Amino acid sequence: MDGTAELRESMLAQVLRHSPVSEAVAEALRLVPRHAFLPEIPVEEAYIDEAIVTKRDPDGLPISSSSQPTIMAIMLDQLGVRPGHRVLEIGAGTGYNAALIAALVGPDGAVVSVDIDADLVLRAREHLDAAGCAGVSVVCADGYDGFPARAPYDRVIATVGVWDLAPAWLDQLHPDGRIVVPLDLRGVQRSVALEPADGHLRSLSIVPCGFMRLRGAYAGPEKTVVLDDGLSLFLPEGGPVGDLLPALDSPAVELDTGVLADHAEVLDGLGLWLAVHEPAWCTLTETASARLPRSPFDLRGFAMSAGIADGDSLALLASGPVSLTAHGHGPEGALLAGRLVAHVRSWDTAGRPMSDDLRITAHRRPAPTGTLVKTHTMLDLTWTTRHVGT
Ligand SMILES: C[S@@+](CC[C@H](N)C(=O)[O-])C[C@H]1O[C@@H](n2cnc3c(N)ncnc32)[C@H](O)[C@@H]1O
Repeated sequence: MDGTAELRESMLAQVLRHSPVSEAVAEALRLVPRHAFLPEIPVEEAYIDEAIVTKRDPDGLPISSSSQPTIMAIMLDQLGVRPGHRVLEIGAGTGYNAALIAALVGPDGAVVSVDIDADLVLRAREHLDAAGCAGVSVVCADGYDGFPARAPYDRVIATVGVWDLAPAWLDQLHPDGRIVVPLDLRGVQRSVALEPADGHLRSLSIVPCGFMRLRGAYAGPEKTVVLDDGLSLFLPEGGPVGDLLPALDSPAVELDTGVLADHAEVLDGLGLWLAVHEPAWCTLTETASARLPRSPFDLRGFAMSAGIADGDSLALLASGPVSLTAHGHGPEGALLAGRLVAHVRSWDTAGRPMSDDLRITAHRRPAPTGTLVKTHTMLDLTWTTRHVGT
């Protein structure tokens, strides 16, 4: 085993600590040299189970990366790629995921990977050649249009967060095919595997994820508002919202939910429940301002809080001394905090559903029903309830 094969084995071990992975995907991770797709960093760093940002916009926001290997492996298992498949990927980035897919489809399959930026496409091509990876076509285009010239595809995967399912992906998918996308569920992203069934698409699996968002003409309506240095507000549907900084700086009304939940339950289950049920759902992230209450959403030192923003008031979920609390700020703060408490209690009463208790049916519009209305589809969300502590 050469040095880089050992590094790949250690990266696989890191992935397996987070999630089980099929033998086929594990073998692809052993085979494809990730360092060839990240030539600008030291070889050892390419085998850490982390996302590596490879391009930023003029404001410094990340716009391309090699995603975290764990989520790539999970999504490839969701996709269920088999030898001989024809696969379309939206978001070529470094080309590494396309190379993993090429390893899974083998010599009888084919991979088309699309990216919106010409420089990224050029680099992905160079990386694939350097890695000796055949069978991948890299195309510069807006991925929302898919790539009709090679359709139909047995599998379609997006490795960029999408607000809606593009009609082109559904048109270009084989009737027995499968699509996996990081789908926006009112500001919360979940990797959803869907298959055609009776004229619509039905979810097979739903997994938490966090991808940078699709750019171009079909970017979603979500908006990030910088409230202050190091403090930004994310609005899933773009607002409008009033001036929240004075509210945030005013004393909070604190209400106890009486619900105790661990970090995983809050991140995966409660966060999704609140996003789907609360029309004025928002999240705040903080890198410098130290205004947010102790948040149950904090992840690896990354301060984030979530709640409700309405007019000049907001309410944020916080970790109280015993159970979750709601902090209301501004003229309507107490009202919003009460609304937040009611949502937390209804999630608890519903048996604390998590992502994998959710089922999604996607109907192309016009459609009779839908919990979430998108541009081209209506998403019907249903929860299977589970019962805790009984
Ligand atoms: C997280 S990266 C993809 C990682 C990639 N699969 C890899 O293995 O390196 C997301 C990519 O989506 C691309 N992207 C964003 N909007 C796009 C669009 N409308 N069409 C195609 N690609 C897009 C970005 O340029 C970026 O390279």
